[in-house]
Amino acid sequence: MKNILVIGATGQIGSELTLELRKRYGDDNVIAGYIPSAMPKGELKASGPSAIADVTDRQSIEVVARQFKVDTIYNLAALLSVVAESRPAMAWKIGIDGLWNVLEVAREYGCAVFTPSSIGSFGDTTPHVNTPQDTTQRPRTMYGVTKVTTELLSDYYFTKYGVDTRSVRFPGIISNVTPPGGGTTDYAVDIFYSAVRGEKFICPLKEGTYMDMMYMPDAIHAAISLMEADPERLVHRNAFNITSMSFSPEIIYAAIKKHMPDFVMEYKIDPLKQAIADSWPDSLDDSCARREWDWKPLYNLETMTVDMLEKLKAKLNK
Ligand code: SER
Repeated sequence: MKNILVIGATGQIGSELTLELRKRYGDDNVIAGYIPSAMPKGELKASGPSAIADVTDRQSIEVVARQFKVDTIYNLAALLSVVAESRPAMAWKIGIDGLWNVLEVAREYGCAVFTPSSIGSFGDTTPHVNTPQDTTQRPRTMYGVTKVTTELLSDYYFTKYGVDTRSVRFPGIISNVTPPGGGTTDYAVDIFYSAVRGEKFICPLKEGTYMDMMYMPDAIHAAISLMEADPERLVHRNAFNITSMSFSPEIIYAAIKKHMPDFVMEYKIDPLKQAIADSWPDSLDDSCARREWDWKPLYNLETMTVDMLEKLKAKLNK
């Protein structure tokens, strides 16, 4: 019997992950944890329990863990890369002090914990093509610093206290439900909204800037399958490289233009986003995830593009 707390349930990943977890484990067994400035609404609110769970306030997490007999926590509270550069202290407070709070509650109440890492945990000195699972991680962004620390602290709690921590390095995630906010990979979501609205897209990254990406259904499937994986098979824990596709702006533009021939994209480079993107891998090697817990994405660029365009047209009444 699982009792799951999703911290950050109203965010980009949390809003879809919570609903999928409710489908699998029962509506009443998945608690949507939120902060008062981001209350659950609509289906998220109606379909199951919700509670305040603020990572910066350990007691709020402890209260929920005790009340609902939580045994698994998906800790999705974080600031994305571009915002974290403008608010480094806040990024640390949420990402690391917050994680510490979550791990302490997990230690006391015997919870398993999933806290995502990211392609942002790599840096300029990491091999950029087919980036190995175990390699140099010396990021220069605050986002990256918090993600590497997340991996280390999560491993520490596993080896020292036996807390069942597991994680993936998410690539850019593309979805048609809750938009991301302040990430370097956000352009790959924004481009779809511009295309469907019939607007010109202004791309903040240069032609030839490759990054790994993934469609949201695969990201959710990855998080849940890793948490369900047989621990005996896990050689790694925090965190697994995973990817579905790697593309650059001109490649996703062409994929959309194939279905919307009038769509126009122009470039206006954002130097901060470009510098961050240049420091991240072009393509990840995710063979460890495939070997240790049978990771396999369902979507590629073409199937994702078709689905995104169809869903967004319906959502935006186009
Ligand atoms: N999507 C994140 C960002 O761009 C990377 O994990 O910040």
